[in-house]
Amino acid sequence: MATAAQTPRFTHPAARGTCPFAPPPAYRQAQQEEPVSRITLWDGSASWLATRHEDVKAVLADPRFSADSTRPGFPFLTAGVRQLNAGQPTFIRMDDPEHARLRRMLTGDFVIKKVEALRPQIQRIADDLLDRMTADGRTGADLVREFALPLPSLVICLLLGVPYQDHEFFQECSRVMLRRESSAEEVGAAQDRLVDYLNRLTEAKRTQPDDGILSRLVERGELTTAEIGAMGRLLLVAGHETTANMTALSVLALLRNPDQLDHLRRHPEAVTGAVEELLRYLTIVHSGLGRVATEDVDLGAVRIRAGEGVVCMISTANRDEDEFPDGDELDLTRDARRHLAFGFGVHQCLGQPLARLELQIALGTLLRRLPELRLAVPFEDVRFRGDMLIYGVHELPLAW
Ligand code: HEM
Repeated sequence: MATAAQTPRFTHPAARGTCPFAPPPAYRQAQQEEPVSRITLWDGSASWLATRHEDVKAVLADPRFSADSTRPGFPFLTAGVRQLNAGQPTFIRMDDPEHARLRRMLTGDFVIKKVEALRPQIQRIADDLLDRMTADGRTGADLVREFALPLPSLVICLLLGVPYQDHEFFQECSRVMLRRESSAEEVGAAQDRLVDYLNRLTEAKRTQPDDGILSRLVERGELTTAEIGAMGRLLLVAGHETTANMTALSVLALLRNPDQLDHLRRHPEAVTGAVEELLRYLTIVHSGLGRVATEDVDLGAVRIRAGEGVVCMISTANRDEDEFPDGDELDLTRDARRHLAFGFGVHQCLGQPLARLELQIALGTLLRRLPELRLAVPFEDVRFRGDMLIYGVHELPLAW
């Protein structure tokens, strides 16, 4: 049984290879040679790395692996990420039963039936954005700025009761918070500004309530302003950065795979399955999910000791050949529903019904309304977000 004495393979996060849609080669190699292996983190500490579908699922489903980042040994990606976790804790970094208690306050807002009821509103937002993007005979735009980012931003603002006119402020805060290169001080300052803003907004809801989630949490009377503000921050950041990047990256992946794009154009009803395959293929949460063992656990051929961290690479798990044959291929006809792009276990993405609906509407509407959609710059000039915690593209200049 191997233990922590194993030599680290590389420093996490490793650089990407030539295909900007594929996980870095170092992780694929680890998956083939040593599926549970040792890596070095930014601060020189060591952690375990799980790369196979089966192992990643096993860790994420096992309560002996904690998501609580205040526990010694938790594997942070950067100094900035450690700072992100130093503020008022949110349930994504808590274990049950406290995690479940807080998450339960929001589950009703994100169940499929509730989210499905938002379809007409989300469709209207998508159509309005496209109307504006194509107004006055315009034949080109940056999809990120004009469509992919505002769509989920507008939706999450509506749900939370956050004024969308403040979007430049909170989008800039989340950009700094999610940049891998940001120092701990920069992340701390951006997070403080966002928390301040949300705390003030929450306070205001006490005298001017509305239909949003923040107001409802205030009315429940169980949480402090700081706790509600922290939940708002989690939802606001998770709610727009992820879907925005998935939308733009999906469009680019489709443009690079014309046969798949053609398939989707001819079968618009296939968009539901197509979104699952794109989630699998692109896995934008590309730095992995961190956990720390609370007791000794055997994983594959390895014994993980209490207090040792594990980074679960959902990106390589989603291309595990045992689970997804020809996983490096984008195949919209594949049944990809077993993908782990939303995580697995108790922390599996709370917003996934909303993300799915937004992606289905965004892609469906774009392809229907812009049949001539194409890249407006050479593919080599597209700036990928290897520098961010959530993968995607910084801009996507398109023409139609
Ligand atoms: C394509 C879009 C999205 C992707 C790929 C994604 C991915 C993920 C992943 C991988 C996790 C698990 C984290 C972990 O286990 O450590 C997660 C959790 C979470 N996501 Fe998402 N997400 C997306 C959209 C959203 C949206 C739209 C919202 C909110 C409106 C949201 C809210 C959350 C929350 C609150 C959690 C924490 C759940 C918990 O700890 O119980 N996400 N997401």
